[in-house]
Amino acid sequence: MRKARILLDRDFSIGETDPRLFGAFVEHLGRCVYGGLYEPGHPTADAKGFRQDVMALVKELGPTIMRYPGGNFVSGYNWEDGVGPVEQRPKRLDLAWFTTEPNTFGTNEFVDWCRAAGIEPMLAVNLGTRAGDAARNLVEYCNHPGGTAWSDLRRSHGWEEPHDIKFWCLGNEMDGPWQMEYKSATQYGLVAKEAAKMMRWIDPTIELAACGSSARNMPSFGRWEDEVLEHTFEHVEYISLHTYLNNYKSDSAAFLASPDLMDRFIDEVVAIADGVAARRRSTKRIMLSFDEWNVWYRTRRSRADRVKEGWPIAPPILEEIYTMEDALAFGGCCISLLNHADRVRVACLAQLVNVIAPIMTETGGPAWRQTTFFPFAQMSRLGRGRVLRTQSEGDTYDCQYYDPRGALELTFPVGDVPYLKHAAVMDGEGLSLFLLNRDLDQEVAVDIRARGFGAMRVAEAHELHDADLSAVNSRDEPGRIAPRTLEGVSIDGERLNVTLKPASWNVVRLQRA
Ligand code: AHR
Repeated sequence: MRKARILLDRDFSIGETDPRLFGAFVEHLGRCVYGGLYEPGHPTADAKGFRQDVMALVKELGPTIMRYPGGNFVSGYNWEDGVGPVEQRPKRLDLAWFTTEPNTFGTNEFVDWCRAAGIEPMLAVNLGTRAGDAARNLVEYCNHPGGTAWSDLRRSHGWEEPHDIKFWCLGNEMDGPWQMEYKSATQYGLVAKEAAKMMRWIDPTIELAACGSSARNMPSFGRWEDEVLEHTFEHVEYISLHTYLNNYKSDSAAFLASPDLMDRFIDEVVAIADGVAARRRSTKRIMLSFDEWNVWYRTRRSRADRVKEGWPIAPPILEEIYTMEDALAFGGCCISLLNHADRVRVACLAQLVNVIAPIMTETGGPAWRQTTFFPFAQMSRLGRGRVLRTQSEGDTYDCQYYDPRGALELTFPVGDVPYLKHAAVMDGEGLSLFLLNRDLDQEVAVDIRARGFGAMRVAEAHELHDADLSAVNSRDEPGRIAPRTLEGVSIDGERLNVTLKPASWNVVRLQRA
C-alpha cells in the first residue's frame, strides 16, 4: 500500500471557483442537438420539442454555462439560417461534419432551452467564412432591446426581451487546417480584434474570448497565443484552450497522468498572456476559458467514425462510449481545472449529449448517464467555493504520453506524476476533497490535516471504482458504473484518514462537527 500526506490550511488559497468553471458545450454535430436535447415527437418532449428525460439528467449533471453552436460547425454557420419561421429556414451542407443541417433548431431555441435548464447561454461567432459584420449583427439581434432592424427582427420572431448573452467566443480553433477558412495568427488576430471592437460597441457589458491554439500539440502553440493576444489584448478578457485526452496506446498509467499536461498547458498559457501584459506594463490579466475539454479518442481518428456518407441529418457520430478508466482520467481533468481557479474562470466539457458526452440517448428511447457523468456532477455540486493551496507528499512516477497530430507520432514527457491527484475546495459550510488514486494496483492510505477548520464530520463520501477498467454504462445496463459509498473514512478533529482503492475517483465532503 502507498502512503500520501496532504496538509492544507483554510487561510491558504488559490482562488474562488467562478460558477462558469462548470460549463459544457452543445454543437450542431451528430445527435447532440437533434435526437439529443431536441427531439419533437419523443415521448418525453415538451411543446418546444425539448426532451425532458435529457433535461432532468442535465439538471442533475449541473452545468452552469453552455457554449453553442460550435465547435468546427460555427466556422461555416450563418446564424440567420437558424432564426425565424422554421418552415422557411434553409437546409445547408455542413462542411465541418459533412452532414445536412436542417436549421430547425437555432439561437432562439437554444436560449429557450438554456433558460428552461437554468443555464447561462454562451455563443460563438463565425470568424471562419464570415467576420465582424455577421458577428456584430448577431449581438444586435440577441442583446439590443429594440428599435433597430436586427433587434426588431428578434422581436418579430417572438422574443420580445433581449437574450442578454454575456459571454462570446471569437470563432473556434482558428489555427486548425480542418477549420473552414482557418487563419494565420496575424490574420485571425486582426479579424478577432475588429469583431470584438464592434460587438462591444453594441453591448459594452459583454465578455469576449479570443481563440488560443486548438491543442497544446499544435506546431504554432505558444507563438499563436502571443501574436493573437498582441492584437486583441485590449479587446478581450479571455483566451481559450482545448484539450482532448487519449489512450491510443493502451497505456493506462500515461493516460491517467495526462491531466497533468493540462496543468502544464494552463501554466504555459498564463505565462504567455502575462508576457503580453508585461510588454505593455499592463496590470490587466487575461483569464482562461478552457472551452473544450474531455477524453476523446476512439471515435476521433478514423474518418468512418466521424463522417457518414450521403450528407445525412444528425447521424450518430463521435458517440464515444466511456469506460471506468475514462472516468478516472476525466476526474483528473476536473482536479486540474479546480486547482487553476485563479486563472481558469470558464470551462466547457465537450460535449453534453451523445457526442463525446456524459449523457447518451436512444432516438425515440431512453437516456442514461455515462461513466464521466459522475465526476462532473460531483465537481459542479461540491466544487463551488475557495480552492485551497495544499502541500502534499507521496510517491510519483514518470511516463511518456502519446498525443499524435495528423500523421505525426508525437510523444510528450510527463514527470513527477503523483499517484494521488487531489483538490480541496472550502465554502461557508465545510470542505470538499477530490481524490484520484492513479495507482492501478495499489491502494493509497491518505493522511489529511485540515488546519484551521476545527472539529469536522464526514457529511458525504463517495467512490467511483470498478475492478474492470473497461466497464461501461449502456442502455441495458445504465447503472453498471455509479458512485458508491466510500467506506472507512475516519476523522479525528482536523485530521482525516482514508484508504483509496487502486484506480479510483473519490469525493469526501466534510462539515463542521
Ligand atoms: O468537440 C468536437 C470538436 O473538437 C469541435 O467541433 C472542435 O472545436 C474540436 O476540434
